[in-house]
Amino acid sequence: MCGIVGVIGNNKTTDILLNGLEKLEYRGYDSAGIYVNNQDGKDFLVKEVGKISKLENAVTSDVQGLAGIGHTRWATHGKPTIENAHPHFSEDNRFYLVHNGVLTNYEELKEKYLSDVDFKSQTDTEVAVQLVDRFAKEGLDGEAAFRKALGLIKGSYAFAMMDKEEPDRIFVAKNKSPLLIGLGDGFNVICSDAMAMLDQTHEFVEIHDGEVVILEKNSVKISKIDGTPVKRDSYTVNIDASDISKGTYDHYMLKEIDEQPSVMRRISQNYLNNDGSLNVEQDLLDEMKKADRLYIVAAGTSYHAGLVGKNIFERVADIPVDVELGSEFGYHMPKLSKHPFFIFLSQSGETADSRQVLVKVNKMNLPSLTMTNVANSTLSREATYTMELLAGPEIAVASTKAYTAQIAVEAVLAKALGEAKGLQSGKDFNVKEQLALAANGIQTIVDEKSKIKDLTADYLTDQKDAFYIGRGIDYALALEAALKLKEISYIHAEGFAAGELKHGTIALIEKNTPVLAYVNDGVGASHTRGNIQEVEARGAHVLVIASQKYAEPTDQIIIPEIDELISPIISVVPAQLIAYYASLARGNDVDKPRNLAKSVTVE
Ligand code: F6R
Repeated sequence: MCGIVGVIGNNKTTDILLNGLEKLEYRGYDSAGIYVNNQDGKDFLVKEVGKISKLENAVTSDVQGLAGIGHTRWATHGKPTIENAHPHFSEDNRFYLVHNGVLTNYEELKEKYLSDVDFKSQTDTEVAVQLVDRFAKEGLDGEAAFRKALGLIKGSYAFAMMDKEEPDRIFVAKNKSPLLIGLGDGFNVICSDAMAMLDQTHEFVEIHDGEVVILEKNSVKISKIDGTPVKRDSYTVNIDASDISKGTYDHYMLKEIDEQPSVMRRISQNYLNNDGSLNVEQDLLDEMKKADRLYIVAAGTSYHAGLVGKNIFERVADIPVDVELGSEFGYHMPKLSKHPFFIFLSQSGETADSRQVLVKVNKMNLPSLTMTNVANSTLSREATYTMELLAGPEIAVASTKAYTAQIAVEAVLAKALGEAKGLQSGKDFNVKEQLALAANGIQTIVDEKSKIKDLTADYLTDQKDAFYIGRGIDYALALEAALKLKEISYIHAEGFAAGELKHGTIALIEKNTPVLAYVNDGVGASHTRGNIQEVEARGAHVLVIASQKYAEPTDQIIIPEIDELISPIISVVPAQLIAYYASLARGNDVDKPRNLAKSVTVE
């Protein structure tokens, strides 16, 4: 949430900032702004409410310089207005600062040090920049004032600050919010996510919590807040800039839905060797073999992938699994089992709710694994082990291919663990064959997208409410299907255990209420059919998504053959497409739905 960028030493600063912000727009798009300094006494501040395209239109051709910082905002403190947009600046327009994160003690700081300052915004961030200015006015130079302010500030932040008196440096600091430095040829850049700067460089340096960077065009000086120097090597990000383009698609979401068959094949190729063995770290399996319970911690769509994973691990690797929301579990941790093992599921690897659990898990010295789509992300660095999802950059805010990749990688790990434990269930689960079926099955569904488009138009587009129902594996899936629909179409949608409707929610069913029923779960299939009749008797308009095995002639969408355990990999795809077409027909911004951001870095 919120994205920051910066450049020093490049005469295309404005273009680089705007291009970087476009790439970071998935992190928030309530407002945006840039500050550019031409290092010759001239500087520019441009801010706009709304998406980056509005900012781009507002930036005139004279806004040019050799250094600058930029920000795209997902509002936390204060409404999305020009005043609350970043960069924020000090009273006398000397310091300019962009911030991703939330300062928890800003009110205290304001009262103690800044009671005489005329604040222009309602943000926590402005307190930071005014505080630096206050210390500078007391006689400290820019760097010392920045460090002194950091020593007092509490909360999460990635800061980039410019001092008009020293426009050849950018002051950078990080605590809990993601931040990277990119190394260019004769210039350097700052970004919340490498994707923002891949057009400039593939060489990046990680910045850790509690570190400060003094960035100049030819140098990157990292230190602790107290000034102790830190040495860190750079690493190469192997993502092609073309991976993050929409290509011929109108929306990233549809491109990412269509990519799912190749993601399945990539996971299979990377984790399964030709001789049938699995490419999973032996140390990880040895550690997991000692565990008496798995705790899967995640948020949103990743949490739903965890619910599917629970069934897979329990059946294939014979181990009990709890699936937990990071935002709940971290603060209300139940009594843990004797030998817990934690699995963090996170597309971005940056979700603050999950990270705060990992911080606690690390303090307890407990072993953990992060499954993430972003190598070198915070959750990956801080967990004991990492397995990459290999889904390729996911840019649409609504997660699609990361969900199916998470289930696939969970299946690989469950198989490896089951085999490592010498279990027959591990041997019997043919993950290679299942991933091949998954790839082909998804392809069949995406090839039928025009049918799903027509179904959606007749069925959903003008509705206010919709229900997804299912049992067992289909219940976990119904939760994800409903989330997809509501987050991009803004139709109120709920996922329900089919048997639970009659315990209350059935009161909401009236003539033509859409109920989308999943019938892939062998044990639950006949009961779900009963529940379908109950809602139809009350006027619901039912659409059935059933696996070949349990399908009836009137069912509208048929799911190709696959092991029930991982069937959500295929059966989620109609729901992704339904959500996509409903959103499109309602004129919404499919890739950037209102109020959301892709990487949720606040708790
Ligand atoms: C929904 C969606 C979110 C994320 C959630 C966790 O489509 O994308 O619900 O799944 O914010 O994000 P990650 O997986 O990055 O931890």
